[in-house]
Amino acid sequence: MSLKNKKILLVIGGGIAAYKSLDLIRLLKKNSNDVKAILTKSGKEFVTPLSVTTLTKNKTFENIFDKDMEAEIDHISLSRWADIIIVLPTTANFLTKLSLGKAEDLATTVILASDKDILLVPAMNVRMWIHRATQTNVQILKDYGYLFIGPEEGEMACGEYGEGKMSSPRQIFKYVENYFNKRDVFKNKKIKAIVTAGPTREYIDPVRYISNESSGKQGYEIALALDKFGVKTKLITGPSNINYQKKLHVKKIVSGDEMLQEVKKSLPVDLAICTAAVSDFKPLRKSKNKLKKDQIKSNSIIIEKNRDIVEYLGKNNKNRPKLVVGFSAETQNLNRNSILKMRKKNCDLIIANDVSRKDIGFNSNFNAVSLIDNNGNIKLIKKNKKSLIAHKIVEIILDKFLINDKNFN
Ligand code: C5P
Repeated sequence: MSLKNKKILLVIGGGIAAYKSLDLIRLLKKNSNDVKAILTKSGKEFVTPLSVTTLTKNKTFENIFDKDMEAEIDHISLSRWADIIIVLPTTANFLTKLSLGKAEDLATTVILASDKDILLVPAMNVRMWIHRATQTNVQILKDYGYLFIGPEEGEMACGEYGEGKMSSPRQIFKYVENYFNKRDVFKNKKIKAIVTAGPTREYIDPVRYISNESSGKQGYEIALALDKFGVKTKLITGPSNINYQKKLHVKKIVSGDEMLQEVKKSLPVDLAICTAAVSDFKPLRKSKNKLKKDQIKSNSIIIEKNRDIVEYLGKNNKNRPKLVVGFSAETQNLNRNSILKMRKKNCDLIIANDVSRKDIGFNSNFNAVSLIDNNGNIKLIKKNKKSLIAHKIVEIILDKFLINDKNFN
């Protein structure tokens, strides 16, 4: 596969390396990609709009913001048009603007309004790059999900040597090619996935229920990450406070039985990731009316076990997904208990998280997990935002899926 037929938006920043953007445009165009460019005010000091337009064969958007221009360009449609946005060179000043979430001109506004991945290609003097202020900004931006390539080590335009040199157009091209290859492979294979998420509620009467601690965030982020990788994804989720992105296929359920029914309806799928905190128990009977206090005596609510959904999938002879992934929230003996769970439920992979930690999990935006496969290999993913953890989990799962898929077909 190669990088072809993509819509690429370049933001050309103000640094001596800006001239290399012309080589990147040439490479992208030679491979039949559609390229548009925003030339920042300082970028214009290094390359001219005429040379950019000549190479992209598209109008060059200049980084001024006036009423007429806004009517003509519309920063929202420009960011929606792109499949990816690449900022090159990304200067120290530009990193600061992005980390503050500024929207002061066309480039920063398009980036802030973007729902696509943004690849930053830093280039600056080595001292500027290693300065704590710059490194703090880089960390903030990585946490927001921005992608980075470089800078490389080498001799810089200012004559100093060190880390700060912009990656070459060929390196950037390869990076972007790899980025799309990963995504297109799943789109082309028409892979279908279900993700279960959130708690379930098992009602005793119209106002009381048995439930579990769970915000549904990690499952939601996993579904979003799968969707970004081109996997046709359905999120089956219990009650939560999340405002789901419209583009995602979400099916809301309440009880464990409803979740199971929805999972059954969704089969066959290639991939099942079960993050839901399904209540282990449900009342044998649900009262139509609110029970009066004096009607409830100790031991008067009889409970029965809920069906285990991930186990149903893992042991499904007829319609077993090619990859079944379970989650395991434990407060002690995390790895051992999780491995036992994986075997019992016949999962291919289990994602273990330590719920005794107060700084991650349940209602936090952060998590830290270990992925354990059925050969006993353990891969740790350090504490990070649930969105980034989801991205990493999905990358690993999809890689594993591809290896397994070769063996299946
Ligand atoms: O046994 P335990 O509840 O700790 O297992 C957690 C894993 O099992 C999670 O993947 C969870 O989504 C799944 N599970 C399920 N149905 C249940 C209980 C748990 O799918 N009834």
